[in-house]
Amino acid sequence: MNRKALGGVLVVLVVVAFLAIFLPVYLTQGNDAVTPPPEKLTPDQQFYKDVKDEERFDCYPDLDVTPSKKLCEERGCFWKPATLAKAPECFYPLTYGYQMTRLPVNTDLGWEAYLSRLDGVPSRYGNDVMNLKVEVEFQTDSRLHFKITDADSPRFEVPLVIDKPNKQPSDPMYEVSYKSNPFSIQVRRKSTGVLIFDSSVGGLTYEDQFLQLSTKLPSKYVYGFGEHNHQRFLHDVDYKTWTMFSRDVAPVDEWNLYGHHPYHMCIEERGNNAHSILFLNSNAMDVTLQPSPALTYRTIGGVLDFYIFLGPTPENLVTQYTEAVGRPAMPPYWALGFQLSRWNYNSLDRVKQVVKEMRDAEIPMDVLYGDIDYMDRYMDFTVDETNYGTQNLSDFVDDLHARGQRYIIILDHCIGKEVGYEAYDTGLTQDIFIKTPEGQVLEGEVWPAVNASVYPDFTDPSATPWWTSLCDSFHDEIAYDALWIDMNEPSNFVAGSQTGCEENTINNPPYLPNILGRIMPDGKRGLYDKTICMDAKQHLGNHYNLHSLYGHSMSVATHEALKTVFPTKRSMVLSRSTYVGSGAYTGHWLGDNQSQWRQMPWSIVGMLEFSLFGFTYTGSDICGFWYATTYEMCLRWSQVGAFYPFARNHNGRDWPAQHPAAFDDAFSANAKKVLEIRYKLLPFLYTLFYEATTTGTTVARPILHEFPETLGMNLDRQFLWGASFLITPVLEEGKTTVEAYIPNARWYDYYDSPGKEVDPSLRGTTAVLDADLMTINLHIRGGFVIPFQEPANTTVYSRVNPMGLIVALDENESASGQLFWDDGESRDSLAKEEYVLTEFSVEKASGMGTLQITPSITNYATTLAFETIHVMGLKSVPTTAMANGVPIQSQNFQFDDDKKMLTLTGLDLGIINSHTVQWEE
Ligand code: GLC
Repeated sequence: MNRKALGGVLVVLVVVAFLAIFLPVYLTQGNDAVTPPPEKLTPDQQFYKDVKDEERFDCYPDLDVTPSKKLCEERGCFWKPATLAKAPECFYPLTYGYQMTRLPVNTDLGWEAYLSRLDGVPSRYGNDVMNLKVEVEFQTDSRLHFKITDADSPRFEVPLVIDKPNKQPSDPMYEVSYKSNPFSIQVRRKSTGVLIFDSSVGGLTYEDQFLQLSTKLPSKYVYGFGEHNHQRFLHDVDYKTWTMFSRDVAPVDEWNLYGHHPYHMCIEERGNNAHSILFLNSNAMDVTLQPSPALTYRTIGGVLDFYIFLGPTPENLVTQYTEAVGRPAMPPYWALGFQLSRWNYNSLDRVKQVVKEMRDAEIPMDVLYGDIDYMDRYMDFTVDETNYGTQNLSDFVDDLHARGQRYIIILDHCIGKEVGYEAYDTGLTQDIFIKTPEGQVLEGEVWPAVNASVYPDFTDPSATPWWTSLCDSFHDEIAYDALWIDMNEPSNFVAGSQTGCEENTINNPPYLPNILGRIMPDGKRGLYDKTICMDAKQHLGNHYNLHSLYGHSMSVATHEALKTVFPTKRSMVLSRSTYVGSGAYTGHWLGDNQSQWRQMPWSIVGMLEFSLFGFTYTGSDICGFWYATTYEMCLRWSQVGAFYPFARNHNGRDWPAQHPAAFDDAFSANAKKVLEIRYKLLPFLYTLFYEATTTGTTVARPILHEFPETLGMNLDRQFLWGASFLITPVLEEGKTTVEAYIPNARWYDYYDSPGKEVDPSLRGTTAVLDADLMTINLHIRGGFVIPFQEPANTTVYSRVNPMGLIVALDENESASGQLFWDDGESRDSLAKEEYVLTEFSVEKASGMGTLQITPSITNYATTLAFETIHVMGLKSVPTTAMANGVPIQSQNFQFDDDKKMLTLTGLDLGIINSHTVQWEE
């Protein structure tokens, strides 16, 4: 047989064998058996097939380009039409990002690992960082830190020092795991197993100017991020992007505002536990919330640096956060008094007139401000000699002091360019101004009415002594009491500089977060609208990285300067621009709001958010800054503003007068009444500030922090002072009632000094309370003791008045509280323990109610005494009472049967001594 014939036989045999084996199978099983088995999909193909709309992570967030399938796929992403309107069509595949190159290695505080970029995925804007280092640190029981950096070369990192221990906590509240390919990190709360961080979604991206990381969220209850004009405290997670990059702009819309706070709190539904996350990065950034729920961070520089705090309560988070970034500064006592300001009083005569009107109306007021119109041509450290006069202004400030009042002046960040002007000349010699890339001093325009303004670089260590010396010698001329620092975003009225900015990737980066002004009037896209060029040179590098730190660095320098100006006395900084940790150096007002009703509720949201950010001294311009207020609006605003921790009525340049004495007698009387309540409660408020500065608890507190069961109710039209004082303002025009949520506790009406218990059947409901034009609803929570002091027209006088206690009993007729008291202004009274700290505790046993007053620290000499005690919420009628064993005379013993309130008067219980007060029921 030749080879051909043999081949033919073999083919026949194979065919016969095939038929013999498979024909019976075919005949018994039918056609299906020959259909090819279903193709096995790769995980990415499967993901593409199954992905739900809300689980897509946007791979094309670029605002100026309409994405197409082609553009999308060029980025290595998937394209698929979506049903949900806001869901992206271009989204990340699963296998995008980086992989771990070898197993993690243990370090003292945790572990570290190295990553390399996954092959085959095109980069987005170029300059991919190919090798990354991951460091995970178990810093404390409740704080985890992890950071992803370039493994091969250093990158900019925020110069904020967060102390860390040298060994790991023994029993952290969290556990950390990772996936190696693609790399992702997971953080779980141990007690509940809830995953609070999980970056296995979205596409980890690490380019020189585009860094992105996404994480799943355990719930949609997200609060914080700033600074924005959030209209509600609880965020919307329906594909909502918030942009952060400091900017001089009024809080009107959803744009990025003065400060930069990439920090949020999330309440995990299960167990009502809360955690918070700090993304320690100062570059322009977007954060996007989406409904799955999840969160994406997109920044254009720095590193991916995260701190996670485990709470578990919202108040614990503020404590843990401020332990890391700095506890809030302690203001002097007088700074808690009422303050008055306006831009363009325009002359000292007008200022004197306003102060006189306030005195005549007997409205409490501690502080008056000098806005830029006191200056000569809006130049820092000068006085307008025509309309103010250095000597006259100085005499006026001395007179304020003599009457127990204070004067705060504004200082702007910018220095007018004028040879012969000391601040300019010395700044030049000491070489502390920000420069152009070519090494010239960068010139912009702000208020100074000269040819140009230049910018001190407060990140340069030599700027602080320069600034200090100027602040100090100006204080010799005008004896101001504190400094208000403004425009420090830093603001510039021309884009970039007087000569614009060079076109380069620093000024015009490839990805532009959604900042206001990203497209400038001349059509250029960039970061420098209303500020200076991003390639401007500062001591710590390019302005690009330091921009949002400008206000912070100025706050730190000013805080330092005030130590020289007032070596023994406490002063205060009030800054417009702030960053993470600024609360340790400065207070913050919410900027140039408008005299509009809608701004009033927003002010509460802003204040509560700054509480989360670790600030205590906050509030918005009472009665509004821009536009003319109205009688009713200003009255209602004066009522709620009396309970801002920082209570200042400030008016814009050309609007009608709005100080409380500018209206009619009824207005003045109401402003007086409500401010007298504030002044009466100042010992309580000051104690809250003390607690905040020592332990990090909040002063203006969301109801949610005390009543977790209100989760999801978004109660941001009412707020608390500490745990126990509820403020329910009227925030709408023409209303004489207010909807008040009554949290689940005993509450007492503050009025009728003080008053009746709120009907228990209203607990946990929204009640409609009367609130005529002259009334703001105020309630005291059962279980707390609130110290008070009779009010006066300034704190100098109120501080010597008799003290008293409001004891608000809970269901068990017990209560507790404390009082912090010092001279109100010594710089180091806390450090030296020169104060009085007294604890109050009330218990009922065998028909006897007992209030113990127990001072733990008594290093401040005072003769002040508690002279009146109100006990509210007694369940039976008291018959007798004793103070330190001595029966209280009947004329000093009153029981109001209607209110169930016992009032003891004529007491003389020195606040530095221990006392026992008892009543028999
Ligand atoms: C800024 C401040 C404002 C001040 C004004 C003039 O707009 O935010 O409070 O009155 O400058 O200094």
